Amino acid sequence: MKFFADTADTAEIRELAATGLLDGVTTNPSLIHKSGRKFVEVVKEICAITPGPVSAEVVAMDHETMMREANVLRAIADNVCIKVPLTVDGLKTCKALTSEGTLVNVTLCFSANQALLAAKAGASFISPFVGRWDDIGTDGMSLIADIRQIYDNYDFGTEILVASVRHPIHVLEAAKIGADVMTAPPAVINKLFDHPLTAKGLESFAADWAKTGQTIG
Ligand code: E4P
Repeated sequence: MKFFADTADTAEIRELAATGLLDGVTTNPSLIHKSGRKFVEVVKEICAITPGPVSAEVVAMDHETMMREANVLRAIADNVCIKVPLTVDGLKTCKALTSEGTLVNVTLCFSANQALLAAKAGASFISPFVGRWDDIGTDGMSLIADIRQIYDNYDFGTEILVASVRHPIHVLEAAKIGADVMTAPPAVINKLFDHPLTAKGLESFAADWAKTGQTIG
C-alpha cells in the first residue's frame, strides 16, 4: 500500500520523505488555508520534495473554470495530480484531463456508486473519506470494501486512495482490504512506528549493552 501525506506543511513532508515512506502528497483548500501560504508556491515546493503524485484541488464548480484552474496547476510540475470533486462537472473535467495524460484524483467520495462513476470517467485515484463517514455513525471501511469488490469485478485501473484517515486502525483495515493508497496526516503515519514492547526491548538491550563496556567500530 502506498503512503501519501495529507498535509500542506512542507517541513512535515520533508521529515516523512527522509524516512523513505512517502509515496505522494494530498492537499485540499482547508490544508492550504492552514499552511498560510500561496497555493501555487506551496504545491511547487511539495512537488520538488517528492517525485510522487501531489494532489492540488480545483475550487471552481463548473467544468470550464475547473479546466482553466487545472491548466494553471498542472503547469507547476509533472507530478501534479489534479483533484476534482465528485460532481457532474468534476467528472467531465476528470475525463478531459486523464484523456490528455494528466493524473486526476476524484475527491469527496461517499458512496460506492460514486466510485463506480469516477472509475468510468477514467480517474487515476478515487478518494473515499472514511473518517467523515465514521463521523456520521456509519462504517467508513465498509465503503472501501465495496469499492474494492466493484473495481476488481470490472478490472478498473483507478486506485483506491483511502482519505480522511484519522488513526492507525484505519490504516490497518485499509491494508487488509487491499486499498492501493492511504493518505493521512503525518502525525497518524508516525503513530504506526510505536509499540510499547519495541520501546521496552530497546531500553533493555541498551542497558545490557552499556554493561559490556564495548563500542562498535
Ligand atoms: C483527502 O485528500 C483529504 O484531504 C483529507 O483526507 C480529508 O480529511 P479530513 O476529513 O480529516 O479533513
